[in-house]
Amino acid sequence: GLLVVRTVADLRRAVAGFRKAGRTIGLVPTMGALHEGHVSLVKGALERGDVPVTSIFVNPTQFGPKEDFSAYPRDEEGDFTKLREAGCRIVFAPTKDEMYPGEQLTTVTVAGITDGLCGPLRPGHFQGVATVVSKLLLMALPDRAYFGEKDYQQLQVIKRMVRDLAMPFEIVGMPTVREQDGLAMSSRNRYLSTEERTKALVMYRQLVKVADTVRDGTKSCSEATAVASQALRDGGFDIVEYFTVVDADSLKPLEHVTGPARVIAAARLGRTRLIDNLAV
Ligand code: PAJ
Repeated sequence: GLLVVRTVADLRRAVAGFRKAGRTIGLVPTMGALHEGHVSLVKGALERGDVPVTSIFVNPTQFGPKEDFSAYPRDEEGDFTKLREAGCRIVFAPTKDEMYPGEQLTTVTVAGITDGLCGPLRPGHFQGVATVVSKLLLMALPDRAYFGEKDYQQLQVIKRMVRDLAMPFEIVGMPTVREQDGLAMSSRNRYLSTEERTKALVMYRQLVKVADTVRDGTKSCSEATAVASQALRDGGFDIVEYFTVVDADSLKPLEHVTGPARVIAAARLGRTRLIDNLAV
């Protein structure tokens, strides 16, 4: 069965019960509106023998003032059903006051890898993410925590935070789950109209194309991504925020691929902001 807990005290009690029985714990942090991408993280925890613990919290501190915090999709009952079916054992769904009781004076900032890509475009976003993920890790005290490669910069930020602060948790990155046609699953895909849903696919197609072009290291990354950005605009995207090839660990831009690299993009389609990335 799936146990629903709303307080840190109840979460710790439930986790302690499984620990006493000799089990390891796998935390899956989410903001709800769950889809197969989220479910794959729960499955990842089960495959490694962990008791899956999913958190659902739409974290206000990682949304900018003009972003979709209020409009962010919420479907708690639907989420609980999906988690139960996936084999999740505990869901932690705290209130805002339980997560942030009283004035909060402490934040976690990861420098360097937040300098590029989504960092400057979403000021304060990664600080909000790093802080809430730190809190969730310290509340649940898992053995491992599972994150999707879909949010590749977020995954690198959290890996780096855990390393730099010597947090005793293993961070597991899981592959991006896609729709049949290749579109990366996202809670925000439900904002797309039928017409936009068709246009959205251009991003995945161009990521594949750029990855194929730059893989052997002979072609210029900036030339390949300039062509791809134009293809996105021609395909109906309103703003291409970035389309670039970066080092897979440092996230620094590359002109020629010589080792592990990632092609990564963010663009707006109407009111929806889409992000995706692929290994080169
Ligand atoms: P959310 O967008 O709900 O995503 C929760 C987790 O699911 C993240 O690790 C994300 O990378 C992963 N995920 C989303 N779509 C995926 C897909 N198509 N395939 C595989 N994994 C996917 O990311 C957040 O919430 C928040 O920033 C959070 C980490 C919970 C902090 O508030």
